[in-house]
Amino acid sequence: MRKCRPVLLKGTFALTDLVLQAKMITKSFSGQEILKGLSLDVERGDLISIIGPSGCGKSTFLRCLNFLEHPDSGEVRIETVSLACDGSRWTRQDEVRAHQLRSHVGMVFQSFNLFPHRTVLENVMMAPLHVKKIAPDQAEATAMELLEKVGLKNVVDRYPDRLSGGQKQRAAIARALAMKPSVMLYDEPTSALDPELSEEVLSVMRALDQEGMTQLVVTHDMRFARAASDRVLYLEGGEIVESGSPDQIFAHPQEARTRRFLRTLLS
Ligand SMILES: Nc1ncnc2c1ncn2[C@@H]1O[C@H](COP(=O)(O)OP(=O)(O)OP(=O)(O)O)[C@@H](O)[C@H]1O
Ligand SMILES: [Mg+2]
Repeated sequence: MRKCRPVLLKGTFALTDLVLQAKMITKSFSGQEILKGLSLDVERGDLISIIGPSGCGKSTFLRCLNFLEHPDSGEVRIETVSLACDGSRWTRQDEVRAHQLRSHVGMVFQSFNLFPHRTVLENVMMAPLHVKKIAPDQAEATAMELLEKVGLKNVVDRYPDRLSGGQKQRAAIARALAMKPSVMLYDEPTSALDPELSEEVLSVMRALDQEGMTQLVVTHDMRFARAASDRVLYLEGGEIVESGSPDQIFAHPQEARTRRFLRTLLS
């Protein structure tokens, strides 16, 4: 089902509402080029899955989008904040800009990364309280709303080690949402989970999609990528080999490399 997608109207032109743009992102490690000039436009409300063989640069690309990794060159714009890299030294001003850019991004990792000595509720309240300086009552009310949304209302006072993997990941999603991001980035959010627990997490992501949240998901879960995405990117060798609808990528791939990857998965 398509979602409504807000569109900016300017004069007689309808401009699509791009939340995130990446232009010609490159990154090398130890002289080996891992990302070879990746560009991507993400419209508000899109759910984009990024698939590809292990080691092709999916996580590196995601991390470059919010400057957890500094690209060697290229530019990222999220909402109105843009930051370009040209290989010159990272300045204090760049760091300030990266911080502003990250304030629009929620990131969820395979390994949850919850604070172990904080309850679920405290985990979700912490950043709004300490980073955004939201009043405690308001931060708690918002956190409770989010925890209800992800189905964790009954475990808000538990510590992370008393949660299942699926519950931990849903708490991590609620924590990211508490900062009211414009875009959520997920790096293999369900890879550490059994199928049943994965489904709990994926259904939260589908619900967010229906609400219009913009989401980029690096995933090995082809069933999810095929069923839930608006667009799928196939990465290999540090390049976007093919980008298209789930039907194009999975049923009618245009590129030999995409076909080969999908065949490997089936065998
Ligand atoms: N900090 C780093 N230092 C050196 N090499 C790195 C670093 N991070 C990633 N790499 C290398 O870059 C390449 C791409 O890694 P990346 O983690 O982006 O792949 P991936 O597509 O996410 O793989 P996977 O599906 O296994 O998670 C790999 O060869 C990896 O070893
Ligand atoms: Mg990875």
